[in-house]
Amino acid sequence: MTVTDPVGAWHRLADSSVLLDGFHALKHAVRFGAEIPVAVTADLEATLALADELAPDVRGMLDALLAQVPEPTYRSLVPRPHPTAVAALAVRPSRAANLEKLAHTPRTAPVVVLDNPRNLGNAGAVIRLAAGFGATGVVTTGTLDPWHPTVVRGGAGLHFATAVERLTVDELPSGPVFALDPEGDDIRGTKLPDDAVLAFGSERIGLSAALRARADHLVALPMRPHVSSYNLATSVAMTLYHWSATGGAIS
Ligand SMILES: C[S@@+](CC[C@H](N)C(=O)[O-])C[C@H]1O[C@@H](n2cnc3c(N)ncnc32)[C@H](O)[C@@H]1O
Repeated sequence: MTVTDPVGAWHRLADSSVLLDGFHALKHAVRFGAEIPVAVTADLEATLALADELAPDVRGMLDALLAQVPEPTYRSLVPRPHPTAVAALAVRPSRAANLEKLAHTPRTAPVVVLDNPRNLGNAGAVIRLAAGFGATGVVTTGTLDPWHPTVVRGGAGLHFATAVERLTVDELPSGPVFALDPEGDDIRGTKLPDDAVLAFGSERIGLSAALRARADHLVALPMRPHVSSYNLATSVAMTLYHWSATGGAIS
Protein backbone atom coordinates (compact mmCIF):
# COMPACT_ATOMS: atom_id res chain seq x y z
CA MET A 1 0.00 0.00 0.00
CA THR A 2 1.37 3.48 -0.86
CA VAL A 3 2.13 5.43 2.31
CA THR A 4 0.40 8.79 2.73
CA ASP A 5 3.59 10.67 3.66
CA PRO A 6 6.41 8.90 1.77
CA VAL A 7 9.03 11.54 2.53
CA GLY A 8 8.26 11.56 6.25
CA ALA A 9 8.30 7.75 6.29
CA TRP A 10 11.60 7.75 4.44
CA HIS A 11 13.26 10.07 6.95
CA ARG A 12 11.88 8.05 9.84
CA LEU A 13 13.03 4.68 8.50
CA ALA A 14 16.15 5.35 6.42
CA ASP A 15 18.75 4.73 9.14
CA SER A 16 17.33 1.37 10.18
CA SER A 17 16.39 0.03 6.74
CA VAL A 18 17.98 -1.53 3.67
CA LEU A 19 18.17 0.87 0.72
CA LEU A 20 16.94 -0.64 -2.53
CA ASP A 21 18.49 1.50 -5.16
CA GLY A 22 16.95 1.37 -8.63
CA PHE A 23 14.29 -0.63 -10.41
CA HIS A 24 16.07 -4.00 -10.54
CA ALA A 25 16.84 -4.06 -6.83
CA LEU A 26 13.23 -3.20 -6.00
CA LYS A 27 11.89 -5.76 -8.48
CA HIS A 28 14.03 -8.57 -6.99
CA ALA A 29 13.22 -7.62 -3.41
CA VAL A 30 9.48 -7.64 -4.15
CA ARG A 31 9.73 -11.01 -5.94
CA PHE A 32 11.50 -12.60 -3.00
CA GLY A 33 9.12 -11.33 -0.37
CA ALA A 34 10.93 -8.37 1.20
CA GLU A 35 8.89 -6.19 3.51
CA ILE A 36 8.94 -2.71 1.92
CA PRO A 37 7.37 0.06 3.96
CA VAL A 38 8.13 2.85 1.48
CA ALA A 39 9.04 3.09 -2.23
CA VAL A 40 9.40 6.25 -4.27
CA THR A 41 9.82 7.16 -7.92
CA ALA A 42 10.35 10.44 -9.70
CA ASP A 43 8.35 9.16 -12.69
CA LEU A 44 5.60 6.67 -11.91
CA GLU A 45 4.51 6.30 -15.52
CA ALA A 46 8.05 5.43 -16.68
CA THR A 47 8.56 3.00 -13.78
CA LEU A 48 5.35 1.15 -14.51
CA ALA A 49 6.25 1.03 -18.22
CA LEU A 50 9.56 -0.57 -17.16
CA ALA A 51 7.61 -3.05 -15.05
CA ASP A 52 5.35 -3.90 -18.02
CA GLU A 53 8.45 -4.58 -20.08
CA LEU A 54 10.76 -6.30 -17.56
CA ALA A 55 8.73 -7.52 -14.62
CA PRO A 56 5.03 -7.93 -15.40
CA ASP A 57 4.82 -10.49 -12.54
CA VAL A 58 5.31 -7.74 -9.94
CA ARG A 59 3.74 -4.79 -11.81
CA GLY A 60 0.61 -4.82 -9.65
CA MET A 61 2.63 -4.89 -6.43
CA LEU A 62 4.86 -2.04 -7.62
CA ASP A 63 1.83 0.02 -8.61
CA ALA A 64 0.44 -0.44 -5.10
CA LEU A 65 3.77 0.34 -3.40
CA LEU A 66 5.23 3.27 -5.31
CA ALA A 67 4.65 6.90 -4.40
CA GLN A 68 5.53 9.58 -6.94
CA VAL A 69 7.70 12.39 -5.57
CA PRO A 70 9.19 15.40 -7.37
CA GLU A 71 12.60 14.75 -8.95
CA PRO A 72 14.48 17.05 -6.51
CA THR A 73 12.84 15.24 -3.57
CA TYR A 74 13.87 11.85 -4.96
CA ARG A 75 17.43 13.18 -5.34
CA SER A 76 17.46 14.44 -1.77
CA LEU A 77 16.47 11.00 -0.42
CA VAL A 78 19.19 8.86 -2.02
CA PRO A 79 22.97 9.23 -1.83
CA ARG A 80 23.51 8.44 -5.52
CA PRO A 81 20.47 8.89 -7.75
CA HIS A 82 19.89 5.81 -9.94
CA PRO A 83 19.18 6.16 -13.69
CA THR A 84 15.76 4.52 -13.16
CA ALA A 85 14.88 7.14 -10.50
CA VAL A 86 13.35 4.50 -8.21
CA ALA A 87 14.28 3.73 -4.62
CA ALA A 88 12.75 1.92 -1.67
CA LEU A 89 13.44 1.01 1.92
CA ALA A 90 13.15 -2.62 3.01
CA VAL A 91 13.16 -4.24 6.44
CA ARG A 92 16.37 -6.17 7.12
CA PRO A 93 15.50 -9.78 8.03
CA SER A 94 16.24 -10.55 11.67
CA ARG A 95 19.30 -12.53 12.68
CA ALA A 96 16.97 -15.12 14.22
CA ALA A 97 15.14 -15.59 10.89
CA ASN A 98 18.43 -15.99 9.01
CA LEU A 99 19.81 -18.44 11.58
CA GLU A 100 16.65 -20.51 11.29
CA LYS A 101 17.00 -20.72 7.50
CA LEU A 102 20.69 -21.58 7.76
CA ALA A 103 20.06 -24.30 10.35
CA HIS A 104 17.09 -25.86 8.55
CA THR A 105 17.59 -29.51 7.63
CA PRO A 106 17.55 -31.40 5.39
CA ARG A 107 19.41 -28.75 3.40
CA THR A 108 18.70 -28.80 -0.33
CA ALA A 109 21.49 -26.46 -1.44
CA PRO A 110 24.88 -25.42 -0.02
CA VAL A 111 25.71 -22.51 2.24
CA VAL A 112 28.47 -20.21 0.97
CA VAL A 113 30.93 -18.89 3.56
CA LEU A 114 33.17 -15.91 2.82
CA ASP A 115 35.94 -16.00 5.41
CA ASN A 116 36.79 -12.39 6.29
CA PRO A 117 36.06 -10.86 2.85
CA ARG A 118 37.38 -7.32 2.31
CA ASN A 119 35.80 -6.18 -0.94
CA LEU A 120 32.17 -5.01 -0.77
CA GLY A 121 31.69 -5.54 -4.51
CA ASN A 122 32.82 -9.16 -4.24
CA ALA A 123 30.39 -9.78 -1.40
CA GLY A 124 27.50 -8.32 -3.45
CA ALA A 125 28.43 -10.40 -6.49
CA VAL A 126 28.54 -13.55 -4.33
CA ILE A 127 25.07 -12.86 -2.89
CA ARG A 128 23.75 -12.43 -6.43
CA LEU A 129 25.35 -15.75 -7.40
CA ALA A 130 23.97 -17.51 -4.33
CA ALA A 131 20.50 -16.24 -5.20
CA GLY A 132 20.86 -17.42 -8.79
CA PHE A 133 21.92 -20.91 -7.79
CA GLY A 134 19.35 -21.14 -4.98
CA ALA A 135 22.03 -21.49 -2.29
CA THR A 136 20.70 -21.73 1.26
CA GLY A 137 22.62 -18.66 2.35
CA VAL A 138 25.75 -16.55 2.40
CA VAL A 139 27.63 -16.27 5.67
CA THR A 140 30.51 -13.87 6.18
CA THR A 141 33.05 -13.99 8.98
CA GLY A 142 35.08 -10.95 10.07
CA THR A 143 34.15 -7.30 10.17
CA LEU A 144 32.50 -6.66 6.78
CA ASP A 145 28.74 -6.13 7.09
CA PRO A 146 27.12 -8.21 4.33
CA TRP A 147 24.15 -5.79 4.46
CA HIS A 148 26.35 -2.73 3.83
CA PRO A 149 24.64 -0.46 1.23
CA THR A 150 27.42 -1.11 -1.31
CA VAL A 151 27.01 -4.88 -0.88
CA VAL A 152 23.24 -4.54 -1.28
CA ARG A 153 23.78 -2.48 -4.44
CA GLY A 154 26.11 -5.19 -5.82
CA GLY A 155 23.57 -7.86 -4.88
CA ALA A 156 20.84 -6.20 -6.99
CA GLY A 157 18.19 -6.66 -4.29
CA LEU A 158 18.83 -10.42 -4.09
CA HIS A 159 19.73 -10.42 -0.38
CA PHE A 160 16.06 -11.33 0.09
CA ALA A 161 16.40 -14.48 -2.03
CA THR A 162 18.85 -16.20 0.33
CA ALA A 163 19.84 -15.99 4.02
CA VAL A 164 22.63 -13.41 4.50
CA GLU A 165 24.28 -13.22 7.92
CA ARG A 166 27.58 -12.49 9.62
CA LEU A 167 28.76 -15.24 12.00
CA THR A 168 31.93 -16.42 13.65
CA VAL A 169 33.67 -19.58 12.44
CA ASP A 170 32.39 -21.33 15.58
CA GLU A 171 28.80 -20.45 14.65
CA LEU A 172 28.88 -21.87 11.11
CA PRO A 173 25.89 -24.04 10.20
CA SER A 174 26.29 -27.82 10.37
CA GLY A 175 27.32 -29.82 7.32
CA PRO A 176 30.57 -30.97 5.73
CA VAL A 177 32.91 -28.03 5.15
CA PHE A 178 34.52 -27.92 1.73
CA ALA A 179 37.17 -25.21 1.84
CA LEU A 180 38.31 -23.84 -1.50
CA ASP A 181 42.05 -23.44 -1.83
CA PRO A 182 44.42 -23.63 -4.81
CA GLU A 183 46.44 -26.26 -2.89
CA GLY A 184 43.46 -28.62 -2.45
CA ASP A 185 42.35 -31.70 -4.39
CA ASP A 186 40.95 -31.09 -7.88
CA ILE A 187 37.25 -30.27 -7.47
CA ARG A 188 36.48 -32.15 -10.69
CA GLY A 189 36.91 -35.42 -8.79
CA THR A 190 34.52 -34.33 -6.03
CA LYS A 191 30.74 -34.35 -5.82
CA LEU A 192 29.60 -31.51 -3.57
CA PRO A 193 26.63 -32.61 -1.42
CA ASP A 194 23.53 -30.44 -1.03
CA ASP A 195 24.32 -29.86 2.65
CA ALA A 196 27.87 -28.69 1.92
CA VAL A 197 29.27 -25.60 3.58
CA LEU A 198 31.46 -24.06 0.85
CA ALA A 199 34.15 -21.84 2.37
CA PHE A 200 36.24 -19.26 0.51
CA GLY A 201 39.19 -17.27 1.82
CA SER A 202 39.72 -13.55 1.85
CA GLU A 203 41.01 -11.69 -1.19
CA ARG A 204 44.41 -11.01 0.32
CA ILE A 205 45.35 -13.88 2.62
CA GLY A 206 43.04 -16.72 1.66
CA LEU A 207 41.53 -19.06 4.28
CA SER A 208 42.10 -18.30 7.96
CA ALA A 209 43.65 -20.87 10.28
CA ALA A 210 40.30 -21.19 12.10
CA LEU A 211 38.46 -22.05 8.89
CA ARG A 212 41.15 -24.47 7.77
CA ALA A 213 40.81 -26.22 11.11
CA ARG A 214 37.02 -26.59 10.54
CA ALA A 215 37.44 -27.90 6.97
CA ASP A 216 36.60 -31.53 6.20
CA HIS A 217 37.91 -31.25 2.63
CA LEU A 218 40.25 -28.87 0.82
CA VAL A 219 39.35 -28.56 -2.87
CA ALA A 220 40.90 -26.65 -5.77
CA LEU A 221 39.52 -25.14 -8.96
CA PRO A 222 41.55 -26.10 -12.01
CA MET A 223 44.19 -23.54 -13.03
CA ARG A 224 47.15 -23.76 -15.32
CA PRO A 225 50.63 -23.49 -13.73
CA HIS A 226 51.96 -20.02 -12.81
CA VAL A 227 48.47 -18.57 -12.15
CA SER A 228 48.20 -18.01 -8.38
CA SER A 229 44.45 -17.75 -7.81
CA TYR A 230 41.11 -16.61 -9.16
CA ASN A 231 39.04 -13.69 -7.97
CA LEU A 232 36.85 -14.55 -4.96
CA ALA A 233 33.44 -14.09 -6.62
CA THR A 234 34.61 -15.96 -9.71
CA SER A 235 35.67 -18.86 -7.49
CA VAL A 236 32.24 -18.98 -5.87
CA ALA A 237 30.63 -18.96 -9.33
CA MET A 238 32.69 -21.91 -10.53
CA THR A 239 32.08 -23.88 -7.34
CA LEU A 240 28.31 -23.37 -7.36
CA TYR A 241 28.27 -24.24 -11.04
CA HIS A 242 30.19 -27.44 -10.25
CA TRP A 243 27.63 -28.31 -7.54
CA SER A 244 24.75 -27.78 -10.00
CA ALA A 245 26.49 -29.61 -12.86
CA THR A 246 27.10 -32.69 -10.71
CA GLY A 247 23.52 -33.19 -9.58
CA GLY A 248 22.67 -30.18 -7.42
CA ALA A 249 19.11 -29.04 -8.10
CA ILE A 250 18.49 -25.30 -8.43
CA SER A 251 15.15 -24.35 -6.94
C1 LIG B 1 41.79 -14.14 -4.40
S1 LIG B 1 41.77 -15.67 -3.61
C2 LIG B 1 42.95 -15.51 -2.31
C3 LIG B 1 44.33 -15.45 -2.75
C4 LIG B 1 45.27 -15.49 -1.60
N1 LIG B 1 46.43 -14.70 -1.91
C5 LIG B 1 45.69 -16.91 -1.20
O1 LIG B 1 46.83 -17.08 -0.91
O2 LIG B 1 44.88 -17.82 -1.15
C6 LIG B 1 40.31 -15.72 -2.70
C7 LIG B 1 39.75 -17.09 -2.46
O3 LIG B 1 39.23 -17.61 -3.69
C8 LIG B 1 39.33 -19.02 -3.68
N2 LIG B 1 40.18 -19.43 -4.82
C9 LIG B 1 40.81 -18.66 -5.72
N3 LIG B 1 41.43 -19.41 -6.64
C10 LIG B 1 41.20 -20.71 -6.31
C11 LIG B 1 41.54 -21.96 -6.86
N4 LIG B 1 42.27 -22.08 -7.97
N5 LIG B 1 41.10 -23.07 -6.24
C12 LIG B 1 40.34 -23.01 -5.14
N6 LIG B 1 39.97 -21.85 -4.56
C13 LIG B 1 40.38 -20.72 -5.15
C14 LIG B 1 39.96 -19.42 -2.36
O4 LIG B 1 38.96 -19.74 -1.43
C15 LIG B 1 40.71 -18.16 -1.98
O5 LIG B 1 40.97 -18.10 -0.61
